[in-house]
Order: sequence, then C-alpha cells, then structure tokens
Amino acid sequence: MNRKNDQAMMSTEGAFRADLLKPDRSRSEPLYRQIVQRLRDAIEQGLLRPGARVASARTLASELGVARATVELAYGQLAGEGYLLARGQAGTVVSPRLPPRAPARADRGIPRSPPTLAPIGAPPPFQLGIPALDAFPRKLWARLAARRIRATTIADMNYGDPAGYAPLREAIAAYLRVSRGVACSPAQVFVTAGHRASLALVSRALLAPNDQAWVEEPGYPPTREVLRGEGLRVVSVPVDAQGLQVADARRRAPGAKLAVVTPSHQSPLGYSMSMARRLELLAWAQHAKAWIVEDDYDGEYRYAGHPLPALKSLDGQDRVLYAGTFSKVLHPGLALAYLVVPEPLVGRCTQAAGVASNGCPQLAQAIVSDFLQEGHFARHIKKMRLLYARRRTMLATELQRAFGEAVHVELRGGGMHLIARFEGLGSDTAMSRRAQAAGLHCRALSERYAGKQALEGLLMGFTNIASQAEAHRLVAKLRDALVVV
Ligand SMILES: Cc1ncc(COP(=O)(O)O)c(C=O)c1O
Repeated sequence: MNRKNDQAMMSTEGAFRADLLKPDRSRSEPLYRQIVQRLRDAIEQGLLRPGARVASARTLASELGVARATVELAYGQLAGEGYLLARGQAGTVVSPRLPPRAPARADRGIPRSPPTLAPIGAPPPFQLGIPALDAFPRKLWARLAARRIRATTIADMNYGDPAGYAPLREAIAAYLRVSRGVACSPAQVFVTAGHRASLALVSRALLAPNDQAWVEEPGYPPTREVLRGEGLRVVSVPVDAQGLQVADARRRAPGAKLAVVTPSHQSPLGYSMSMARRLELLAWAQHAKAWIVEDDYDGEYRYAGHPLPALKSLDGQDRVLYAGTFSKVLHPGLALAYLVVPEPLVGRCTQAAGVASNGCPQLAQAIVSDFLQEGHFARHIKKMRLLYARRRTMLATELQRAFGEAVHVELRGGGMHLIARFEGLGSDTAMSRRAQAAGLHCRALSERYAGKQALEGLLMGFTNIASQAEAHRLVAKLRDALVVV
C-alpha cells in the first residue's frame, strides 16, 4: 500500500487518528502488545469500522516511531484474533465479518469483550480444527499463485481430469510414501473437494443402498451425515482408549460393508488406535470383504515423537482407502482433500469421480502441487508442529491457572484441540452454550455422541491462540462466562 492511500485510510475514519495508537514507552508492557490493545479498542469502539483499511506496517511504524516488525507483530496477532484481515497487495483491513459497531468517542471506556464473529470468516476463539491462519505463508502463496496465473496456457482453461491434476496426484503420492508410510502410485490418488466428497466417492463407487457402515462413537458428525445421505445404514460403535471396539462392532452389525475410522488421532477423543485393534480391524475387513476408510485428517500433528504410520501402511490385502485433507495442513478455504484407493479399485473410482463432478479447480490444485514439490509443505508442517505444541501449552497453562482443581486438561499425543473436563460447572452442553454466548466457540464433547451414553468436557481448539497474553485473556473470559458467582 502506498503512503497516499494510507493517509486516505486514516482520514476516512474521521474520528480515528493514528497517534491514538502511540505506545507508552515508560510502561513495561511490550510495544506491540500496547498497539494490539489500542487497535482492538479502536475497532471495538467503532472508530475503525469493518472493511476499513489500516495503514501499512511501514507507514504506521514511522508515524508511531517504532520498528516495522513491531507493527507487523501486532497486525499478525490481530489477524489471528479475527479483527484484521490481510489482503496481500491490497493491504490490511478491519475484518469485514465483524458486526458493525456504533462510532464512539475516543475517550470512552474500553469494552471488555471481543466481538461476536459471523460463522464464516476469521475463526472465532477456540474454534475446532482450523489451522493457524495467522502463520500461513501468505506471501509465498501469493508468489506461487501469481507465477501460475502468469503462465496460464490454453490447456489450463479446458476441463481438468475429474480424478485430479496429474502433478498434484504425483506430489501427494510422493509425500505419502515418505511421511505416512503409504506406498501408492499417482493413479491411485483422487483429488476431491473435501472429506465429505471423499466419502461420497467411496459410497458411490463401492457400496449399495442400505449397506451398513460402522462409524466411531463419539465421532465426527459430518461422517455420519454424509453416509446417511448416501443411503447407507450407519451403526455407531463405541471407542475406547485403543480405538474402535471391533469385537463390539461385529456383534452390532456383522454384515457391515464399511468402517470409517480415525486411527492416528481419534476424533474427538484423541487416542491412537492400538496395533492390536489395527490388526483386528484389517482382519475383519479381509474376512468380511468390507472396506475401511482411514480418515487421517490431522495425523501430521504429533507433539511427542514422530507421526504414527498410517493404518494404510499395514494394508497387505487392499481393503483400506486412505482419506487425507489439506484443510488442516494448509487451510480449509482451499477445499481440497484426497483419497487413495487400492490399485484394483482405480477403475471403479475413476468412473464414479467422472460422474460426480468436473473435478476441483485446476489453479488451486496447481498451486498446491508447486507448494508440495518445491519443499514448502514439509517445512510448513514442521513449523506448525512446533507452533501448535507451544500454543497448546499456553492454553493448558492458562486453564490450569484460572480454574485450578476444577479443571482436568487432557493432552494427547497430537491434534489441534484439547479436552477440558470441569468439575461443578454444570453439563458440558450448558457450559458450551454459555461460552458461545460470550463469543467463545468451545464445543461440548457429549454432542459428538449419537447415543445417550456420553463423556462430558469442552473441546477447545488452540491453534489460533497467538500469544500467552491472548490465551490469558480468552481463558479469563471463559471463566467469567462459566463461573456464576
Ligand atoms: C475427523 C475429521 N475428518 C475430516 C475432516 C476434514 O474435512 P474437510 O476435508 O472436509 O475439511 C475434519 C475437519 O474438521 C475432521 O475433523
């Protein structure tokens, strides 16, 4: 953004002057945190409205007499909190998704709560399953995208392969071989528009209406919904610390033709499926001529030791379809996932993919393919693993500090959320309702069960908590919402 535009931005806001953000150097609080606090206040008080541009980091830094990196840090944090939205070359704006506030006088008291966000847009605090959007390498992404757009050929504008863009399929196969122990050829990889599309493809290619499908209890609700929508009979099977209880499943629905499981990191309890259960499940599938979908949605994120090899890596009998997604390792706005099918199923799945759609947008697939092939993906995952481990500790520490003995925080080997079990604060659904009313998107564990028998707790995403100070602020807000005095 150039200087002229910056000045225009500041003056269009009328009441707002950049010097209101000037940090106080006599205070011990870091300068960037003071800027974060002041900008947040300005937005909450309506001095900066949704959609308004804020000055470039360079300009604001020079007006405030601070380093540009200080302003960039502040902008990064506010973007992570959903107040600001970086739009690359077009500059940074106040998130247009924030509800409008009445303009207020600059000297009005500081409101205590962040805004309630619309469901689509920047992730609200504790939202589950969203990667750290503030840490996504947007500049690099923009460069790769621009390069692809500049090089557009006639062929790029034609219909693509419904099974996916060939170089991306190659890159996924290479990645899975090295990182997840899954040996497959590019022809076995189908690029889809997300987990739901992968499940729909499996159902259409391999199953018949009224076939029974085992799903985990508790589980990921969209899995149940999609399978039901595809005309299957869904059978919920309880999970314990070893994963899906295969013997129980066989009693409940001996003729099932499909099992959908999350072996690396059970959704939402976080357990890894034991080797004994993995082998038991594979033996069942072989014997029953049934299929297993391995939903490996966040298997990359383990904070102790290496990521576990996929169940697919043990599949000597070609019964496992491996479902991965870019929603967790890149971002969900891409709407790209993939399904790896056993070699003998390539023909049926190719046909089903061609009937279902024209495939996914070629441009997005090409950018992801470059991102993988040029080594950025592996680096990004490594960085995110370290970042999430830190952010998880920040949240766990603040919960422990704020609630003391009244909370038990469950941290498993990996994942993007933790489970907090509270004593004496009511049911988890009531707690989740109170938290949501305060703009905090904690979810009730019991809602992940289809049946009545349910464990309780709050599921809390930590990936978008940008700092210890933010963790402190959000947990204090949660305590205010939950603890009725
Ligand atoms: C258990 C589970 N599977 C799969 C997905 C990924 O879904 P998608 O590719 O549709 O974003 C998620 C996302 O939250 C999930 O929690």
